[in-house]
Amino acid sequence: MKKVWISDLKDRVGQTVELEGWVYNSRSSGKVKFLLVRDGTGMCQCVYFKGECEEKAFEVFEQATQESLVKVTGVVRAEPRSPGGFEISARALEVVHSAKDYPISPKEHGTDFLMNNRHLWLRSKRQVAILHIRHEIINAIRDFFDGRGFTLIDAPIFTPSACEGTSTLFETQYFDTKAYLSQSGQLYMEAAAAALGKVYCFGPTFRAEKSKTRRHLIEFWMVEPEVAFNDLYDNMELAEQFVEYVVQRTLTNRADELKSLERNIDALKNVKAPFPRIHYQEAAQMILKENPQFKVGDDFGGTDETIVSSKFDRPLFVHHYPAAVKAFYMKEDPNEEGASMSCDLLATEGYGEIIGGGQREDNLDILLKKIKEHGLKEADFDWFLDLRRYGTFPHSGFGLGVERTVAWICGLPHVRETIPFPRLYGRSYP
Ligand code: 4AD
Ligand code: MG
Repeated sequence: MKKVWISDLKDRVGQTVELEGWVYNSRSSGKVKFLLVRDGTGMCQCVYFKGECEEKAFEVFEQATQESLVKVTGVVRAEPRSPGGFEISARALEVVHSAKDYPISPKEHGTDFLMNNRHLWLRSKRQVAILHIRHEIINAIRDFFDGRGFTLIDAPIFTPSACEGTSTLFETQYFDTKAYLSQSGQLYMEAAAAALGKVYCFGPTFRAEKSKTRRHLIEFWMVEPEVAFNDLYDNMELAEQFVEYVVQRTLTNRADELKSLERNIDALKNVKAPFPRIHYQEAAQMILKENPQFKVGDDFGGTDETIVSSKFDRPLFVHHYPAAVKAFYMKEDPNEEGASMSCDLLATEGYGEIIGGGQREDNLDILLKKIKEHGLKEADFDWFLDLRRYGTFPHSGFGLGVERTVAWICGLPHVRETIPFPRLYGRSYP
């Protein structure tokens, strides 16, 4: 007998098959019993009629409790009312493992309880839909850059120095010296851009953010392209084409999952380049009108970003943030003292910053000065300064946070559901 995946049932109509899976749900009404079985590729209703199935199936049916592992044998039929469109007229039932008291029931559970049971929570329909969408987004990210002549360059996880400020560094012992978990692969991509022109890295990054917010993870995935000879404006053009591609492809390929999450996709349909580009000073004036406490010159908080993004029907760039609120490597605009050639992309519907990037400082003396001003050790960056000593070149890049992007596209209120096993402030279990 052919063992089949639920996703392949469409090719087996009329055939007798054997299905292995976990019990999602069961119900009985007299002479007929129903098992809703999932196998990771889909859900299928299995129907047992007294007299038509083996007698033993009725005897063991009670043991097929929620999340028990079962083997079902029967004939595949098209049935529009079954979740995947197919049903099994079942003959035999084997309860391979009867699960006792599965902790997650269809009733509402608190967040903390679900997070403690994340390893089981993943099995729920909603979490499966989110993980499918995450997978699509990751593939779209790779395809976009691979299709444009970029080379994937893996950045190290252990690093000798800070890229994004010293306050969120994770320190670890590295034999008889110290190392830090990478906050960003950017500095290495700058080196790689001088070797290969158009490069990107894609991996986990770490920030010891001591705050509980709906958009901060301690461990998150970031894709970081870096391109030789691109200026700030080329960088925004690349970023907007990239975000359009990722969003539109996900809308096309994952329409079913987005529907099951009840995501209203009107705002996402609009995610088409070009995106509006707003100077920091202009954005600051918009914020001041609604948040008089805001101080021009400061970085934006989440609510400030929402004030700005609510004025637009698609994501927008804010550029030229004050150099003082950005990292040491940002190029200061020669025509605008104190303003960095930075750009953040703010998503729609209050999702805030999903991309941070800009043009890099390529002048050795200015970069040395910035390293000092930021209280960083020059010796740690000696290799990085070499890129300015030997054929320094204009270049730009950005980083997109995968989890914030998944939260935005799925319409989730918090990043904790966007990654299989989230690391949050105060949580590293399971
Ligand atoms: O703005 P950030 O800090 O920029 C960088 O790290 C640059 N070195 C990137 C570059 O130019 N190559 O981070 C980039 C993005 C943010 O816009 C956000 O989407 C995400 O990374 N991000 C986080 N996501 C989840 N949890 C956190 N704690 C995050 N910190 C940043
Ligand atoms: Mg940022």
